[in-house]
Amino acid sequence: MPQIDVNGQRLCYEDRGSGTAVVLVHGFPLDGRVWQGVADRLVARGRVIVPDLRGFGRNAAQSAFTLRDLADDLAAMMEQLGIAPCPVAGLSMGGYVVMALAKAYPGIASRLILVDTKAAADTPEQKQKRDAMAALATAEGARAVADQMAPMMLASSATPQAVADLRQIMESQPPATLAAAALAMRDRDDFTDLLPTLDAPVNWVFGDADAISPPDAVAPLVARLNQGTLTRIPSAGHMAPFEQPQAVADAIAPFLT
Ligand code: MLT
Repeated sequence: MPQIDVNGQRLCYEDRGSGTAVVLVHGFPLDGRVWQGVADRLVARGRVIVPDLRGFGRNAAQSAFTLRDLADDLAAMMEQLGIAPCPVAGLSMGGYVVMALAKAYPGIASRLILVDTKAAADTPEQKQKRDAMAALATAEGARAVADQMAPMMLASSATPQAVADLRQIMESQPPATLAAAALAMRDRDDFTDLLPTLDAPVNWVFGDADAISPPDAVAPLVARLNQGTLTRIPSAGHMAPFEQPQAVADAIAPFLT
């Protein structure tokens, strides 16, 4: 697996295929493996870059960072690889990172694919839950975080194998990184007012059984966009790329031609 040095971090990433590139950004508490099924289906169409974000996956654990740091890493990676501007897809927390990227680096994402994510900042109650999640990760580790998150992640139709595979990814994340990411999400910007300022087309993709980023909230967000489209993924919860990789790959593939 290739590695790249950006902003004082050595990041692991997948780099497969050739031609027009797309970057696939994972969510919390996960790593690039959650995009594997989509990447497998897109490599025939273009170059697919799947980073493990700072501190996640095969990278060294990190005890403090912001979502802007993660966006800065992506920008530096895209510049070094010579792929910018190109489409960038983000799943949930990855969507927050992609919105932070588009805000800080206008034009670097030629298209945003926002998957199972939302634009609003956390409410005070949600911020308290982030504090509790960070404390849980620190005190009890990744398995405790997985215990809490797993029931909300997948549609009820998910197979036991899918549940086990996702848990394996969640349980392998460094606890310090999970705590830092919970606090980074707590402190993220509200991106609602960013949406009407985006020049790039945005495809908002959502699992119709997403229990974390409510499907009902998506249409009003897309209405704020200059060039927004909506893709509903049936039989998917909060992990549409993991649960229904063909449908999500179909939503991204046209941007690679
Ligand atoms: C994620 O899947 O990345 C997280 O559930 C996002 C969040 O908790 O806001």
